[in-house]
Parts: sequence; C-alpha cells; structure tokens
Amino acid sequence: MRISQMPILLFLLQVALTHGPENVKPQVKQTDKIGKFCFEVPPGEYRLSAFPATPDTAPELMFSPPHIDVSVNSPLLGVKFYQAQVDVRGSVVCKETCGSSVSVILLRKDGISKEQMTVSLTDQSSEFSFSNVLPGKYRIEVKSYSPVTMSGDDIWCWEHSSVDVDVGADNIEGITFVQKGYWVSVTSSHGVDAYLNQPDGSHVNLKIKKGAQRICLESPGVHELHFVNSCISFGSSLLRIDTSNPLPIYLKGEKYLLSGRINVDTNSLGGDENLPENIPVDMLDNEGTVLDGATARLVSSGIDQSTAVIYEYSVWANSGEKLIFVPRDMRNDGGKKILFYPRQQHVSVTQDGRQAPISPFSGRLGLYIEGSVSPPLSDVHIRVIAEIESQSASLKLGDLALETSTGTDGLYIAGPLYDDITYTIEASKPGYHVKPVGPHSFSCQKFSQIYVQIYSREDMDEPFPSVLLSLSGEDGYRNNSVTGVGGMFTFGNLFPGSFYLRPLLKEYAFSPPAQAIELGSGESREIVFHATRVAYSAIGRVTLLSGQSVEGITVEARADSKRFYEESGTDSSGSYRLRGLQPDTTYVIKVARKGELDRTRIERASPESVTVKVGHEDIKGLDFVVFEQPETTILSGHVEGKKIKELNSHIRVEIRLASDPSKIESIFPLPLSNFFQVKDLSKSKHLLQLKSALPSSAHKFESEVIEIDLERHPQVHVGPLSYRIEEDIHKQELTPAPVYPLVVGVSVITLFVCMPRLKDLYQAAMASVSASSTTAKKDVRKLVVRKKTY
Ligand SMILES: *[C@@H]1O[C@H](CO)[C@@H](O)[C@H](O)[C@H]1NC(C)=O
Repeated sequence: MRISQMPILLFLLQVALTHGPENVKPQVKQTDKIGKFCFEVPPGEYRLSAFPATPDTAPELMFSPPHIDVSVNSPLLGVKFYQAQVDVRGSVVCKETCGSSVSVILLRKDGISKEQMTVSLTDQSSEFSFSNVLPGKYRIEVKSYSPVTMSGDDIWCWEHSSVDVDVGADNIEGITFVQKGYWVSVTSSHGVDAYLNQPDGSHVNLKIKKGAQRICLESPGVHELHFVNSCISFGSSLLRIDTSNPLPIYLKGEKYLLSGRINVDTNSLGGDENLPENIPVDMLDNEGTVLDGATARLVSSGIDQSTAVIYEYSVWANSGEKLIFVPRDMRNDGGKKILFYPRQQHVSVTQDGRQAPISPFSGRLGLYIEGSVSPPLSDVHIRVIAEIESQSASLKLGDLALETSTGTDGLYIAGPLYDDITYTIEASKPGYHVKPVGPHSFSCQKFSQIYVQIYSREDMDEPFPSVLLSLSGEDGYRNNSVTGVGGMFTFGNLFPGSFYLRPLLKEYAFSPPAQAIELGSGESREIVFHATRVAYSAIGRVTLLSGQSVEGITVEARADSKRFYEESGTDSSGSYRLRGLQPDTTYVIKVARKGELDRTRIERASPESVTVKVGHEDIKGLDFVVFEQPETTILSGHVEGKKIKELNSHIRVEIRLASDPSKIESIFPLPLSNFFQVKDLSKSKHLLQLKSALPSSAHKFESEVIEIDLERHPQVHVGPLSYRIEEDIHKQELTPAPVYPLVVGVSVITLFVCMPRLKDLYQAAMASVSASSTTAKKDVRKLVVRKKTY
C-alpha cells in the first residue's frame, strides 16, 4: 500500500482500514507530519476512512469523500482524502429592492481561522451563495451599508441579522434573512414618551431614552415623530424622518413644563355658580415685566371636594429662568372677585428635566367693605388704609389699599381686599366736613364760605394789588391769607359761626375797616371792601456803576419834621419800594448805612440823598448808584512848597500808626515827581507827615501831621502837602524866638481816585474851602472826606 499525502497538517490524523478479507483485522494508523500514511495488506477489498486522531479538538474536521473503497492487487499509491468543501446558499428578503448595499458575511466561529467571506447582492438578485466552505461552525451575517455615511454601521434592522450554522460535509441551502426595517439613530438629552405616525397612517408608541439609541422603522417612507404629554420641549413638537435618508436625530430639551394649581374655596364664594371658568395667571420675570400668561382651567368641581375646586395651569420655561406667577380674577361682570394667597409664587428653573410643581395658590372671595355717608351724597372720596402690615397685599401700616367714592345713594363698596389684615376707612369731600359716625359710615356737613371782593375808589391803570385778609373766628380760629392781584379771595371750609374779617394793605384805608360776619351751615357770604389810597411809594433801583443791580441794600425815607421814617430793601433786581409815604410831606431819601452788617460793604452812594415832596402819586425813578469798598488800600499824595526843586531830595514821607504814633510804619524819600503812593497799609487810622533829612542846625523844617482814616476810605489822595522852611536859623535864635503861630498854608483836599461829577465837584470845592479855613489850628486835623463819584 502506498503512502498517500494529506493536505491538512494541523491535527494528527488517523486512517482506518476496514472491510478487508476475514483474515485481515481492521487497522488504524496515524499519518506522519505531512499526512502520509501506509498499510501493508494482503490483496483484497478494503475500505479506508480518514478521521482526526483527537475528534474532540476538531469535531468539524471532515473529509471528502468520508471513505474510499479500494481493491488491492498490487501496491496502490495515491489514495487521497481531501478535507470536505461544501456550498452555503440562501436569500435576503428586503422591504424594497435589496441591491448592492446589502452584504452577507460568512465568519468562522471556531477560532481556527479569522477567515471571512463577504458577498454583495446585486440589483437583479437577492440570492447569495458561498462555495468551497470547509466544514466547521460558522456565523452568517447580513448588513446593509449606507453609501452615504460610510460608517460601516448597518442601516437596516433585521428579523435576525445573523445565523449560526454547522457546516458539515453537505451543502447548506435555504438560509433566509428578512429585513425588519430601517435604523434611525436618536440621541436625546432627556427620556421622553413619543409615538410615530407611519406612512400608512398607523401609530407606533416609542419610549425614547436619555442618551444615544437606534430605533427601527418598519415601513419605508416618511414618518412623523410626536412627543406625548412631555414636560420637556425639544424645540418643535414634531419631527419628520425619511427612511430613504435617515439622518440622525438629536433631541435637546430646551424648555421645561412648569405646572401649578389654584385651590378655590367655594364656601367663600357662596356656591359653585360664582366660579370663574378659568383664571389667567401672569408669568413675570424678576423685574416684574410680564413675559407670558397661562390660563388655569377648572379640573375638578367642588362637589366631591366639598370646599375647594382645583384649577391647573402650565407654562413652558427656559432653564435658568427666575419667574413670578401671579393669578388674577379678570372677570369684569361687576361681581365680586377672588383674591389669591399668596399673591405671587416665585419659581427658579434650575435643574434640567422634570420640574417640581409650583407651590399652590389658594383663592377665596376678596374682602368687600360696604358703608355709607349721610345725608346721601355722591362722590365722597373713600380711602381704605391698611391698619397693620399685610404680607398678602404687600402693604405697610398706613398704606393706601384702595380708593373709591360713594354713589348717588351715598353708599360705597370697597374691594376686593386681602383678608389677612384689617382696614380703616377715610372719607372726604371738598367743601364738606366729613366725620365718622360708625366703623364704615360717615356724616357730611357742608362747609361755609366767605367771598371777599375789594374795590378801589380810584381809577387804577393796574389791577388792585394783593391785600392781607385777617379772618378770626370762634375757638381761636385765625386765618391770614393774601388775595391775589385783583382783590378777590374766598375763605372755604369754614364751620358755621361768628367771624371777624379785616383787610390790610399799606397806603390804603378800607371801608368798612373790618366786618363781623355770622355764617350759617353751608352758607356762602360775599363781603365787599372799598379801598382808598392814603399814602404813596417812592420807587427806584440801586445799582453798581456797571449797572449791575444790588440786592439787600436798605433805602430809607425820613421826614424829620414829622418824625416819619420808612425803609425798604432792594430785591434781586435791585429795586426798592418805600411804602407809606404821607402826602404833603417832604422826605429825604437815601441809601441807609447799616454798618458792618450790610451784606455788601458799601462805601458810599450817589447821590448821597434825594429830597422829595410827596404829593398824591407814587414817585418813581429814585435810582442810586453805590460803590463797593475796595479791598486794597492806596494812600497817595503830592507835595508843593518853596524851593521844592532844591529840597526834594531831602524830604521824607513818614507814616505812623495813629493808635501807636511811636511806631513808624514807613518812611521813604519823596520821589522826584513830588508824588507818592503807598499801597496795602492796614485799614485803620494813620498819621502822615513830611520830614527833612537836612541837619536841623541849618534849616528849620516844619510840616503838619495829617490823620488819614483808611478804614472809612481805603483809597485816598492827600495834597498838596506843604511845609515851611527857615534857613537862617541862627539869626533867628539871636533874637528872642517869637512864638509863631504855625500857620500852615496847607489846603488839603482829599480826592477819591476817580472823576468828579459837576455836582460833586462843587461839593469838593466847598470842602477845600472849609478845610482851608480850619488849617490855622495847630493840632492834628482830621480830614474831612468828601465823597466823589467818578
Ligand atoms: C386759610 O384759608 C384758605 C382758603 O380757604 C385755605 O386755603 C388755607 O389753608 C387756610 N389757612 C389756614 C391756616 O387755615
């Protein structure tokens, strides 16, 4: 017997020799490493069978043919066992045409090899077949690839997408894969119930889980995905899915359903018949802006609940929102309304997904306060005031809760009011005295009135000026009021009783001077006064030289002969009006010196005074110009005298403080011009004197001491200053020294550093005359200062 080669070397194989002649026992031989085997046998008929040496490790190892019958007459070579190879065939049932996108894959399962075979279907045929399949355990899978996505994932769903087969020595036929439908991938941020409307109109319920998942759509065509009673909104309520282009679906929760309820107490309403059909609920943001509204609908009637009926409402809210819900009874049928406790609920949409219910509201009929006024009067203003703080109504003590007014029957109803606090009622009506007579009832008493009319006896171009009216009555009642221009006034809100009325206005006498009045309840009285002019005014303005008006300047009018005195201040426009000047009287009018207390430090006024004789009309245009006191002091002067040219360089100007004459404040040579000026001396009195620098033995030099008051006149000019000089002093001394009266020919004119008006010039001239006439005095002269206007 010849050795025969075996192609499989992975397992130890054995070959059995059986069915030989009776004297030949069956034998089993192991093949060598390359699968050769050999039997030595007598001639005869034999059967050779090949099988694995350890069938447990390779049960699928089969050979084709399973056995070979041989007739041995001579050495027989080349008996070959081949490993069995079969065909595996089947078909795919698709919803539509299968086509080349469908592949069938044959995979070995026994781990012997990773070998796999793939066949694709064609448009013409949905049959598949694998040939030359070796025996063994296999898995056959079906897949439909998307030519678009190329992801390698199956895009169809199958009844079974794989079958396991044991391939033996025989062909396998009739494997069938049935397409169940089409995969669609869904990724959702939340679990949600949904249903599919299939192309044929039938419904399929779905439960979409949170996360990624695939859903098998069983029929081809366009499906609609709807969400069922979801508490999450995914943006749109409906999604279309086309199996011919099944795009992945991403569901992201965008809004969450907030729902709440309102329990309404039917007992407070006095029965179900007054229940509203629904209750609007406003949704506001934190700033109180209304974002949206919901409607709470009646969901249970009060019969089985016995006292409360339930309304429910819901709204969609975005994540992160802070919302305020406020229910309102919006019925406008004139009936009583329901109020809700608490008034509002605050909700924060913080977590994703299902939201906790909004805390419930309880509603009950608002509190209505009914009352009346007597006698029945309409339009009595009723104010309802919170007696204590109210949480529900967010009122503080004393806050106004509600306003209303009485009807023609004198009745009022104030409501709806929150019933968590008590209220007080205030009633008022213009022209009436309203006072409480019960908790909610009031009595009204009409006020009396006095109309005052003042007429002038004279023809006047202008309307009658304002008059002070002084009204006094019982129990110390007093009312001082000023009429408007025109002379009319009404005292209202007066209780009945006795009154005394007196008009007052400077420069006028009234007829009658006063009036007693007896007022009945609700009575209106007209009282007339006639006014006569008995005194007059002087009117003018006070300004600075620049024309700028000066406020707060006092102007006075004096009639010394009759000891009459009036004064008046200037207003912001600089105007003044001196009132009450008596006719046929001469007054001197001037800007009054009020000393340091004057707001502005007025140095002087021009004119200094005006003398007027008052007739029977007002005097207008009495204007004054005032000069403010300068801040810095300037003392100037000039010197004249005999031999001034030679003496100039020897003359010194010396200034001392009047309060301390020993102290020299300043001493300086007289300038060549014979003119000097000293600035910024203190605002006080100073002594000015010329001195000589020549030795006193040669000359006798004398000059007068002049007192200067820089406090009153901060800027002053003195001059001409003069001196007396005697040269031959020794000659003089030989003879008994005569007592010279020191006649100093000094005529001191103090001038203000400005330009004089004609009138002032005259006054200045007079002053210089008077100054000259007093120079004979030897003592220190006080300067007579004349005011000058420049
Ligand atoms: C005085 O009477 C007038 C007019 O009736 C009124 O407006 C005013 O309030 C009263 N003044 C006083 C202090 O009663």
